[in-house]
Amino acid sequence: MKIAFIGEGAMSPDIMAAQAKCIGNFEHTEILLPYSIEELASVEKVGVDAMPIPDAFHDLQDVDIAVCHFSAFGHKVFDLMPNLKILATLRAGTENIDDTAATQRGIACVHCPGRNAQAVSDQAVSLLLSEVYNVARGHADMIRGIWNNVYPTSSYTPILSGKTAGIFGFGNIGRLTAQKLRGLGMNIIVYDPYLSDADAGEQNVKKVNKETLFRESDFVMVHARLDDSTHHCIGASEFAMMKPHAWFVNNARAGLVDTDALIDVLKNHLIAGAGLDVFDIEPLPKDSPLLTLDNVTLTPHNGGGSSEEIRVYAAKMAAQGILSILDNAPNFQVMNPQVIQSDEFQQWIERANRELGR
Ligand SMILES: NC(=O)c1ccc[n+]([C@@H]2O[C@H](COP(=O)([O-])OP(=O)(O)OC[C@H]3O[C@@H](n4cnc5c(N)ncnc54)[C@H](O)[C@@H]3O)[C@@H](O)[C@H]2O)c1
Repeated sequence: MKIAFIGEGAMSPDIMAAQAKCIGNFEHTEILLPYSIEELASVEKVGVDAMPIPDAFHDLQDVDIAVCHFSAFGHKVFDLMPNLKILATLRAGTENIDDTAATQRGIACVHCPGRNAQAVSDQAVSLLLSEVYNVARGHADMIRGIWNNVYPTSSYTPILSGKTAGIFGFGNIGRLTAQKLRGLGMNIIVYDPYLSDADAGEQNVKKVNKETLFRESDFVMVHARLDDSTHHCIGASEFAMMKPHAWFVNNARAGLVDTDALIDVLKNHLIAGAGLDVFDIEPLPKDSPLLTLDNVTLTPHNGGGSSEEIRVYAAKMAAQGILSILDNAPNFQVMNPQVIQSDEFQQWIERANRELGR
């Protein structure tokens, strides 16, 4: 049984290999991709088929299981790995995996939904607090020797307790952000077209329509996923509904928001301020108008965190997803559990468990 661990700057393959030891005894190969995170993340815009194929992939003909992070997998890569049966990505999003192609080829796919949800929700709350309390502006001034405690938004710094936070997208991250903001004493309202009444009741949140969310929130927290249906789903008309002293936080994806419309309301102080971790072009170009505004807190797409603890957690989660397949009990991480039902896959599971010593 051979496993390939494919990492890059944001996730080293040795962490993946160390956490996969619970799978059993296997031969393995570690590949460190020669691309930057920005290059790899472009898969979200250009799709898997446009991504370059690393030379090292030509040596993976006998690999049974591949574990990756950002690496792109589509038909061309699958052609190079005819024995592949399980492909696991340590990401929650699956833009780097063509799961339709994988399913056609009988490859089971594993992902790690929620793997960095704690970190991203913590960061969303930190963006909110930093912007409201001028943390970044105060720090920048102090290191320039300036003692300033009056900023453009200071006159309407809110008491957070009792205010309303509107969660736009109530998935893994949105739910955690809601819990954390509730801990600060806020009322939570949620817009998510796929949230059932029963689920909203269980989570103790008020489900509202999109318009109500933008009109009633003192803080709009964006936590939806970007796809064709959500591209620019927040624009001039949504910003026009916001209260003049409401705040906007987006650490989900820039493409959800019409950035020109956001810049316009910020520049004209039609909303209080914004905290942003994600941008249409990353790294953010030096001439971006966002850099000229006095009511934004910007962070360089670091919502997911990059600590050892977060990486180990993700690698452990991927191993659990793989184990669930080997145990013939695919868990919530398995994207195409139907693949596992075939006779061929069942025979492979038997052989894999034998070879792994399970
Ligand atoms: N900043 C970072 O470093 C970072 C790290 C990880 C994830 N993210 C981003 O955070 C976001 C949330 O991730 P997640 O893991 O919670 O995703 P998720 O899939 O668990 O949740 C997304 C939610 O959005 C909802 N949704 C779908 N269409 C919608 C619409 N039109 N309007 C409102 N809601 C809608 C879905 O029903 C779902 O509940 C994603 O955009 C993800 O890419 C950012």
